[in-house]
Amino acid sequence: MSATSILVMNGPNLSRLGKREPEVYGSLTLDEINRGIAGAFPEVTFEFFQSEYEGALIEKLFEVEERGGCAGVVLNAGAFTHYSIALRDAISAIKAPVVEVHLSNVHKREEFRHHSVLSAVCIGVIAGFGVESYHLGVRALLLRD
Ligand code: DQA
Repeated sequence: MSATSILVMNGPNLSRLGKREPEVYGSLTLDEINRGIAGAFPEVTFEFFQSEYEGALIEKLFEVEERGGCAGVVLNAGAFTHYSIALRDAISAIKAPVVEVHLSNVHKREEFRHHSVLSAVCIGVIAGFGVESYHLGVRALLLRD
C-alpha cells in the first residue's frame, strides 16, 4: 500500500447495517457507507474489509502490514471493542496508526459499552456522529500524513 492508502475495517454485525437497529445505527448499508467514504476522499486509495470474526480482522491487519503498511486504519470493531484483547494486541503489533470509530455514542448507551480495550492503543476515538464518524476518522489520519 502507498502512503495515501487507508484501510477501513468493520467488525461483527456491521454487515447488517441498514437493517440492524436503524434508530441506533442509521439506515445506510455498509456498502453505501463505504462508497460515501471513497467518494468524499478521491485522493485516497481505500481498502474496505468487514468480518464477523476476530481472527479475520487480526489477519487483515497483519496482511496490510506485511504488504508494506498503510497511512492508517479506521476501525469500527463493533462489540470486539469492549473485550478483544487479541485485537488490541494486534493493533499494538503493527506500525499503522489506528483510529477507533463508532457510529453511536457508546457513552450514552449501556454501561458495558462505555469501556474500550482498544482506545489505549489507538491514536484517537470518534463516536456518536453516525456515518460522519468514519469520515472524521479518515480526516484524522490525513492530518498526520
Ligand atoms: C458500535 C458500538 C458497539 O458497542 C456495538 O457493539 C457495535 C457498533 C458503533 O458503531 O456504534 O456493534 O461499534
